[in-house]
Amino acid sequence: MTQQWDSNRYACEVGFVATLGEPLLALLAPVPHERILDVGCGDGALTEKLLPFGCQITAVDSSSHQIAAAIRRGLDAHVIDAHALPYAEEFDAVLSNAALHWMKDPDKVLAGVARALVPDGRFVAEMGGAGNVARIVNSIGGLLNREGIELASVNPWYFPTPNEYRERLSAHGFDIVSMEHFERPTKLDGDITAWLEIFATSFFAAFNPLHRTKLLARLREELRSDLCDAKGRWTVDYVRLRFSAVKRDKRS
Ligand code: BEZ
Repeated sequence: MTQQWDSNRYACEVGFVATLGEPLLALLAPVPHERILDVGCGDGALTEKLLPFGCQITAVDSSSHQIAAAIRRGLDAHVIDAHALPYAEEFDAVLSNAALHWMKDPDKVLAGVARALVPDGRFVAEMGGAGNVARIVNSIGGLLNREGIELASVNPWYFPTPNEYRERLSAHGFDIVSMEHFERPTKLDGDITAWLEIFATSFFAAFNPLHRTKLLARLREELRSDLCDAKGRWTVDYVRLRFSAVKRDKRS
């Protein structure tokens, strides 16, 4: 089952995804008139922050619901799966925030990003890195195991180590300028159940709605001791992989 996105719910309940992605803009350092591609733009909340820099922005996402929201912001946004980017040497830079970990064939994505960039073009991105939401993944794994489902068969997420991603970038013709792998515990405004309903639907696709609700309640109880404080505030154990890379110029 592919992940379904509801842009209204996304904006209301996990708006922090774009806000916490803002450090990427400093790393990207956009300049006027540059052509920039945002891969996995979601509802365009971070993408639109590029507009004041005077760049020419194209945004893509595989979700038509998210792209409709991005278009409502006035962005040039298109429903395109990042595993099949259709661009060739059209962009000075590619940006991606909190999207690459949803793409399970990273080599296809990186080939498309490399193709889309001009020589010396920049690729600046942040994604979940190794250990991301590990407390949640472990509990989901245990729960599914008890239901006879193997975690790997339904896991929509890919959280690479820095070394793995460095090797992939290099194999696709990138020089790495910087790569950081760091913990970013993130407080939620609402309940972990909302987070799970937005982001973890694929794990529970095999169950009927009643069974799914029971499993989510059980998961919430399991996670409470580690991720919820005495005041009932939830914190998710995010780990980020943030990097900047440059497409090697084969002519030089
Ligand atoms: C992330 O941004 O790292 C993330 C968000 C939801 C699910 C998985 C990962």
